[in-house]
Amino acid sequence: MNGIPADERVRELRELIEQHNHRYYVLDDPELSDAEYDRLFDELRALEEAHPELTSADSPTQRVGAAPSERFRKLRHLQTMGSLEKATRSEELLKWAEDVRRRLDSEEPVAFVTEPKIDGSAISLVYENGSFVRGATRGDGEEGEDVSRNLRTIRSIPLAMRLAPGEEPPALLEVRGEIYLPLAGFGRLNEQLAAEGRKPSPNPRNAAAGSLRQLDSRITAARPLAIWVYGIGASEGLALETHWQALAWLREHGFRTNPGAERHESIESVIRACQEWERRRAELGYEIDGLVAKVDSYAQQAILGALHQRPRWARAFKWAPSTAQTTLREIHVRVGRTGALNPWAELEPVEVGGVTISTATLHNEEDINRKDIREGDTVIVQRAGDVIPQVVGPVLPYPARSEPFRMPARCPLCGAEIVRPEGEAMHRCPNRACPSRGLETLIHWVQAAMDIEGVGEKFVRKLWAAELLRSMPDLYRLRAEQLTELEGYGEISARNAIEGIEQSKQQPFFRVLFGLNIPYVGFVTAQALAYHFGSIERLAAVSQEEIQAVEGIGPVVAEAVAEWFADDENTQLVAELEGLGLRLELGEEERPIEGSLSGRVYVITGTLVRYSRAQVQAALEQLGAKVTDAVSAKTTAVIAGESPGSKLERARRLGVTILDEQGFEQLLLG
Ligand code: IVH
Repeated sequence: MNGIPADERVRELRELIEQHNHRYYVLDDPELSDAEYDRLFDELRALEEAHPELTSADSPTQRVGAAPSERFRKLRHLQTMGSLEKATRSEELLKWAEDVRRRLDSEEPVAFVTEPKIDGSAISLVYENGSFVRGATRGDGEEGEDVSRNLRTIRSIPLAMRLAPGEEPPALLEVRGEIYLPLAGFGRLNEQLAAEGRKPSPNPRNAAAGSLRQLDSRITAARPLAIWVYGIGASEGLALETHWQALAWLREHGFRTNPGAERHESIESVIRACQEWERRRAELGYEIDGLVAKVDSYAQQAILGALHQRPRWARAFKWAPSTAQTTLREIHVRVGRTGALNPWAELEPVEVGGVTISTATLHNEEDINRKDIREGDTVIVQRAGDVIPQVVGPVLPYPARSEPFRMPARCPLCGAEIVRPEGEAMHRCPNRACPSRGLETLIHWVQAAMDIEGVGEKFVRKLWAAELLRSMPDLYRLRAEQLTELEGYGEISARNAIEGIEQSKQQPFFRVLFGLNIPYVGFVTAQALAYHFGSIERLAAVSQEEIQAVEGIGPVVAEAVAEWFADDENTQLVAELEGLGLRLELGEEERPIEGSLSGRVYVITGTLVRYSRAQVQAALEQLGAKVTDAVSAKTTAVIAGESPGSKLERARRLGVTILDEQGFEQLLLG
């Protein structure tokens, strides 16, 4: 050995490893590589094995869990673990603030702190002289269960407080927090449970609580649980005056406090935060069901006291839950504008996140069967922010179920035999004359491409059914009288629609190109082609090789474009649109603003539906942005497609903005 006594080296290693745990799990800013970390860990384990007398519950080696115990011991809390009075409307918060002011009966200002209300499992951690000694669940508020062994497996819980050189730890400190399961971990856990034929967990909160109460702590260790610490209970030898100070103190001493905490000088500012966070909620990698607002001053808290274990100095502002259970009535299939078959779920209407939903997307056959979703099942649906509702999975077990879902063998609209191109997850109707393509192309034209005001999917469907609309040029030949003859159209809405259509003729060239539904030509490719060739005339005249020479365009896309323009029907369509006055060449003002994204750094993860990685990168770089591989605090945003990897998780942990395909398109529009 290198001469250092074993006990000293063990101490040194434990400190180093915990330091690394802190950087990795609490600060999200690792310093060591995984291999370096593993080397330290292996060395410590070997030393502990060789010197069993040095083993200690404080050691990071104890974080892997141990064999099952019989049951949990009951533990009495040093201080009651109360609960929170709820509020769901701003008026209730105003009333609360008034009540607080009246009870305090003083001119002294009242400041508040808001923090995310984590949807997990409440926990109390006891530290004696800086070391973690035990921890318990909330239980009935007076007495909880001793889950210390499981808590030790959670890397973001410090086993020893971080102290400045020479600093004395408080003799006693009870730290309160919430154990939770990040959404990514929740998804993985449910996939694993489904694969084992076991019942999936209905939400991350149940999953966290269940994971924490495993008698076999090795199971807990295998679940990616984490903690956000939000307060202090009993303490000895600690003098703090405000909750805001307490959060800072906890952070400095190695505890993981939520970066979303904010201090407010007025209740109006608290209310604004409650509204803002409902939107931001979807960007987090974990579930929150509201914000907690707390009076900041401990002195004021003491005056206010509690009623029935509920502090008068705090309120939980809650939003509607973002998951719910309902019945999946039927799985339908819609044929998209590119011929792709998109399955979707018709649901028994249910309220999720304050909105009633009756449909949800189902991606593709593989995904449906992997999640084992079947017609007639009771399913869990999830809505995150503005995102389209998702079916998470069925609520098992079932005594009797329908058959697993199969894509139809023939197109539901034209009867053509469905194909599934190799390497693709989507099934497709290969018939280019399939009526769905016409209808879906028109919907795409009015919405995504030309963005026509007063004209949407309903409008198109109605006119399609009335046989007034079969192609884009038809749209520009419509007259107001034809619309007023249809049910639901008054003079005004008819005039608005016609006006919107007329105005859309001024939309830039690349939007027209995007609307033509040329295979593989999404928003970004349309822009690239428009800027490169300048007019449709030129684009139609150039060879496949010349198209392929455009930055970000590969052979498959180039071939598809060249083929499209080789088709007489298509050139006819272009000629008609030109005759109707649409813009088929580049206007001077249409060029992207060079450098508009200078200084910004983006990371791309997962597969986007409409663009290749090269296209996304080219589009961003054209505007002066940098595209890198690794997510860090310097990343401006992560652009995430389907099946994103660990980069997305990391972005969520770091609070980096996440953009989906639409968000990316918006970005390019400036
Ligand atoms: S403060 C007296 N802060 O919400 C209770 N609680 O009903 C003071 N929770 O079981 C609690 N996030 O576990 C507080 N930032 C937060 C919280 C939070 C989640 C949970 C807590 C408790 C429940 C309150």
